Amino acid sequence: MNTKLKRVVSGIQPSGILHLGNYLGAVKNWTKLQDDPNSKCFFFIADNHSATNKFLENLSKEKEDANEVYSDLNNMVIQTTACLLACGVNPKRATIFSQSNILAHSELMWILSCMTPMSWLNKMIQFKEKSKNKDKELSSTGLYTYPILMAADIMIYKGEIVPVGEDQIQHIELTRDIVIRLNKICKKEVIPPPEYIINKQASRIMSLQNGLNKMSKSDKNTHSCLSLITDEEDIKSKILKAKTDSLGKITYDVKNRPEVSNLINIYSQIEGITIEATLLKYENASTYEFKQGLIKMLNENVLPISYKAKNLIEKDFDYVRDILREGKKIALEEANKNLAEIKDNLNYFV
Ligand code: ADP
Ligand code: TRP
Repeated sequence: MNTKLKRVVSGIQPSGILHLGNYLGAVKNWTKLQDDPNSKCFFFIADNHSATNKFLENLSKEKEDANEVYSDLNNMVIQTTACLLACGVNPKRATIFSQSNILAHSELMWILSCMTPMSWLNKMIQFKEKSKNKDKELSSTGLYTYPILMAADIMIYKGEIVPVGEDQIQHIELTRDIVIRLNKICKKEVIPPPEYIINKQASRIMSLQNGLNKMSKSDKNTHSCLSLITDEEDIKSKILKAKTDSLGKITYDVKNRPEVSNLINIYSQIEGITIEATLLKYENASTYEFKQGLIKMLNENVLPISYKAKNLIEKDFDYVRDILREGKKIALEEANKNLAEIKDNLNYFV
């Protein structure tokens, strides 16, 4: 393999259908990076990350049947892959696979967890946020050690560039610290320290119902999130019901008008123009007129993705599964080779 190629690694959880935030914040960058002839991309469905709370949550609902948990996840792996393909992630340019198919991720995670102090994990904001409203007994240790699995996911492919949304930056910084520690223990650079790439303007697309919360698959309010599997009716209803304010005109002011600013941001990102250009277009428009323009823009750009994803799920299930199987072969070889190199440098018994 050409060692000059920059290694790009990223993952997405199959915890629900991909939404506009995932697309604009992360996946659009995946498609740009895969088309760079100097890059080698590994994109995976992070099903092990999605499992972090599933068993305990289902236990509390007295649904402890593992088959149920995993058949649900299995289905979502296919649906998430179909959405990625519909967004333009190209299996000819990137290796696409399911994380749990590559055992080396978990083995490396164990090795890394033995060199990661708890004090580093205690600083992770996402863990604090995700466990905050739960009974402590309901938060799994998997949720706590989740960032170490993320570090392993990146390191196992010697990832140098990690395209993500803003909420993942702290996890990539932790990965860098773990890489530096591993290299120090090995007294040489076995793994390169990775860097994140974000699409600054879209790194945190907010909920359509609350401009202070990020758009998320796990939001219980169904109107807060525009899923990529959608239709005209759904787009219209979500945008018309999207929270705004009583000012009635279109100005960009994230602090005082977070919801309107988020919609302006979405419009700019979808059309690929600046915020200023969007404001100019809607200089004298009412909020309603602006929303109509946004609906039209979303219909033109998101409906084709949705149509493609639905077709893949309904008619081309085998094709999607085969892409994951092909990806698995390439990822396995790469991951096993790198794990062996790391273990060798740590003087593991062979
Ligand atoms: P979710 O939080 O919706 O479950 P994931 O955790 O699977 O999404 O995130 C997948 C990728 O999408 C990550 O790189 C994440 O940073 C990015 N992402 C998630 N939500 C948003 C958002 N609202 N805006 C921009 N990027 C996002
Ligand atoms: N934790 C990430 C998220 O929730 C998904 C993910 C898992 C990931 N492993 C990764 C992203 C490695 C980048 C690199 O969005």
